Amino acid sequence: MKTIDPKGKIALVSGANRGIGKAITLELLNKGAAKVYAGARNVETLSELVSLYGNRVVPVQLDVTDDRSIERAADLIEALDILVNNAGIFAIGGILSGAALTSLKDNLDINVWGLIKLSNAVYPQLAKSENSAIINISSLAGLGNMPMAATYSVSKAAVHSITQGMRAELSDKNTLVMGVYPGPIDTEMAANLEMDKDSPSNVAQAIVSGLINGTEDVFPDVMSQQAGNFYLSNPKAVEQEFANFKA
Ligand SMILES: NC(=O)c1ccc[n+]([C@@H]2O[C@H](COP(=O)([O-])OP(=O)(O)OC[C@H]3O[C@@H](n4cnc5c(N)ncnc54)[C@H](OP(=O)(O)O)[C@@H]3O)[C@@H](O)[C@H]2O)c1
Repeated sequence: MKTIDPKGKIALVSGANRGIGKAITLELLNKGAAKVYAGARNVETLSELVSLYGNRVVPVQLDVTDDRSIERAADLIEALDILVNNAGIFAIGGILSGAALTSLKDNLDINVWGLIKLSNAVYPQLAKSENSAIINISSLAGLGNMPMAATYSVSKAAVHSITQGMRAELSDKNTLVMGVYPGPIDTEMAANLEMDKDSPSNVAQAIVSGLINGTEDVFPDVMSQQAGNFYLSNPKAVEQEFANFKA
């Protein structure tokens, strides 16, 4: 089993300035990570993290839709053990709605192309680590399509498949490839969802425990623990259940 203790390790987190990405950054630092490269489109939004952790937080300007920004970020990173592909958006659109192609493009540009571009850009540094991890934040919506956010579900299903592909490609390396499948979490992204939500810090704790325990598929909150078990035993039932999540 592949495991990794964040103590003394160097991480990169995309979208580290708020929500789940900020919580993961804090949890990695609290569990002894030596340094976190904190990616944000606007590095000024990282000032609280820097004031708390000083030079253990390295602000990195990172827009995953901007090739130059990704290139500059990769050039800055000298060594890397843990990559957290967290940056994402939630563009709403049904498959058969007039907005399908627009919302699908937006979701794919950031949630999928951005993730693949950033992963490839920093993989040379990660490949030098003797014990590493790649963490991809998918969603429960990646395991069954939710019609209220159908094209978002498409993008997160792609993240699920990308995670499986990375795991297969890195099977002979000491790299834990983790997929994370949260349910509704209390961040700006989910502000308009009228549902019970778990906290970003619980998600972050589940992820970091997963690193230490070698968990490949992390279901980090109350809803995802239930749905995750259900998915593993009966994916068709999850499809039918999620079909009720209408706009
Ligand atoms: N919240 C939920 O219920 C939930 C459930 C399942 C999965 N997730 C996933 O968890 C991840 C984090 O979401 P969250 O809930 O923390 O959302 P959030 O609070 O809206 O944060 C999104 C983060 O992504 C960043 N981002 C957006 N576009 C970007 C770009 N082009 N380049 C770089 N960074 C970009 C944002 O930066 P700015 O501040 O610059 O906008 C922000 O840091 C996402 O992948 C999301 O799909 C969330």
